[in-house]
Amino acid sequence: MRISTIGCGYLGAVHAACMAELGHEVIGVDVDAAKVEKLSRGESPFHEPGFPEVLARAVESGRLHFTTDASQIADCEIHFIGVGTPQMQGRYAADMTYVDAAVDSVLTHANTSPDQPVLIAGKSTVPVGTAAGIAERAAASGKNILVAWNPEFLREGFAVQDTLHPDRIVYGLPEDREEGEVIREMLDRCYAQLLEEQIPRLLTNYPTAELVKVAANSFLATKISFINAMAELCDATGGDVTKLAEAIGHDDRIGKKFLRAGIGFGGGCLPKDIRAFMARAGELGVDQTLTFLREVDAINLRRRETAVEMAADLFGGRLVGRKIAVLGAAFKPNSDDLRDSPALDIATRLWARGADVVITDPAAGDNLRKARPDLHVVDTVEQAVKNSDLLMVLTEWKDFTELDPAELRPRVREAHVIDGRNVLDPQAWSDAGWDYRGMGRGVSTW
Ligand code: UGA
Repeated sequence: MRISTIGCGYLGAVHAACMAELGHEVIGVDVDAAKVEKLSRGESPFHEPGFPEVLARAVESGRLHFTTDASQIADCEIHFIGVGTPQMQGRYAADMTYVDAAVDSVLTHANTSPDQPVLIAGKSTVPVGTAAGIAERAAASGKNILVAWNPEFLREGFAVQDTLHPDRIVYGLPEDREEGEVIREMLDRCYAQLLEEQIPRLLTNYPTAELVKVAANSFLATKISFINAMAELCDATGGDVTKLAEAIGHDDRIGKKFLRAGIGFGGGCLPKDIRAFMARAGELGVDQTLTFLREVDAINLRRRETAVEMAADLFGGRLVGRKIAVLGAAFKPNSDDLRDSPALDIATRLWARGADVVITDPAAGDNLRKARPDLHVVDTVEQAVKNSDLLMVLTEWKDFTELDPAELRPRVREAHVIDGRNVLDPQAWSDAGWDYRGMGRGVSTW
């Protein structure tokens, strides 16, 4: 099929390359000329394991092109919308400017005929009600354009895997059954190889499909804040939240995943999605329904301050002049994404309190230097820890979880370590002479 993907960020670029991998002819459109140029050369603009290979293969095959010229989408059968929906400045609601512009492009440039409809398939995370609005605009355009909502569930770090082998595929369809069947057939053709793998495919109406996405992210955020609330209780009582999570996780109904307590969630999705969801609920007159998400957000943000206070407490409340080595800046490992990163937020707060903060990250260093020239960024752990008074592991890169505490010990001035992700072995670090502190991880002989 001939396909366009509008928006070539994480979601769009990976989707475009994966669709080409499935054999489709794909044109990726983005307003950012530098990004388009890079992608056209088969180079990834972001760190994502496995993506450079798929991208290079697709570009070399001649099935994948990128452009800033939206008129090139004219002959595509499906137009996927994968632009960002960031949080609006000073508000909780999502900024829909880019979605609106992407729809404008399709309505302007798509070639249609009465017997040959084209499809707008939305993938961006949007407020419920968006698809219906776009369908109205499409109908008013006089062109034969149908609309589906086809949410994306990819995780950074696993983007290719999640796109080519998702847990489920959701088609949000119009109430008109005939139209819906035409759309289903088009999307089934597009995803034929995935459907052969027996990946569950759910057919829903528009609001359900839109809600599925924000409900999933809200549930994940809630799970993380739940375990972080338990971490606060463990701190107050001497319990160990990692053991607690393991124990409750053995119950299948609870499950072990997304119960890692620490400095909390960040990134370009979970934080802004729960806020946009609350804002939308308010608009719909059901804001009380989601007030619990306010608590989820508050618990999450409290984790960052807790980490800073833990650091300050080690030095009698004063951080001025203390050298702190921060390991990790990205919001999670295997990513160079700094958006709403808890690690970066904590580093910034420490710095604001007068600490001499030195940061290192295996992938996000360059982005960090560009975004925050005020911070001291170094390339290696060795450089970061030299003569430090405190080591803080804030992103759980394998490079950090596998550090040898005995080897690091002589390099530092004071051997304090705060394990912001509860990924280090407390015993091994204590045995090597470190004062180990986890998040909600009381010292225990058990
Ligand atoms: C998230 C969802 O997991 C994806 O399913 C979704 O498609 C995506 O958002 C999106 O909306 O596009 P992502 O932002 O890549 O994916 O990151 P996650 O793996 O969900 O991690 C989010 C944050 O939670 C990270 O900062 C991570 O460190 C933190 N986290 C995760 C915890 O603190 N504890 C955990 O147990 C798990």
